[in-house]
Amino acid sequence: MLITIIFLTITVILFIFSSKTLSPIPYFPSQRVDLPKIIKALNLRNGQTVFDLGAGDGIVIFGAAKLSYQQKLNTRFVAVEINPVLILILHLRRLFHPNKKNIKIIYGDIFSINYTKLLTFNSSLFIFYLYISPWFLEKTVLNIKKQINKFNIVSYMYPVKSLSKTAVINGKNKIFIYNIK
Ligand SMILES: C[S@@+](CC[C@H](N)C(=O)[O-])C[C@H]1O[C@@H](n2cnc3c(N)ncnc32)[C@H](O)[C@@H]1O
Repeated sequence: MLITIIFLTITVILFIFSSKTLSPIPYFPSQRVDLPKIIKALNLRNGQTVFDLGAGDGIVIFGAAKLSYQQKLNTRFVAVEINPVLILILHLRRLFHPNKKNIKIIYGDIFSINYTKLLTFNSSLFIFYLYISPWFLEKTVLNIKKQINKFNIVSYMYPVKSLSKTAVINGKNKIFIYNIK
């Protein structure tokens, strides 16, 4: 009985991770070694909101939220994820995070998410962290542009070809920064 339950659980998890609907972009966490550079690129400030679009297990959003907490900033963090297993992990990790009051977990699709409906607070600037397949970057950026005028993008590993970059940080992988006004 126990073996059947374990087998079924593993099968469901494998199905979710390989499903094109439940996980259109494969899950790869950002490289831990690049985390300090990624967080520096986010340039955390009071009154800002940082989104991780396709947040995975939350390595970036929880790392950034921890630094924000240590620096006594009121920056807000929103993790958007479509994979139900990763959503569960994000909720569990949030429960034990010192800055949990400033972290929101959203089960949603980054290609169509309605940011204006989602935001119940004012923010001076929105920062979007992206580590997604290059062929999905433009679609995701277009959905942001349609709804928000002023924002920053930090894209890990892949450049956003339609935007002119503000800076590039060299890590194990490149980190591309865009300031859109
Ligand atoms: C390459 S991983 C990056 C994870 C995390 N941002 C990081 O840097 O460690 C891409 C993530 O996007 C999620 N994802 C894929 N398609 C999505 C969609 N349409 N909406 C929301 N999340 C999506 C995947 O489940 C996966 O966790």
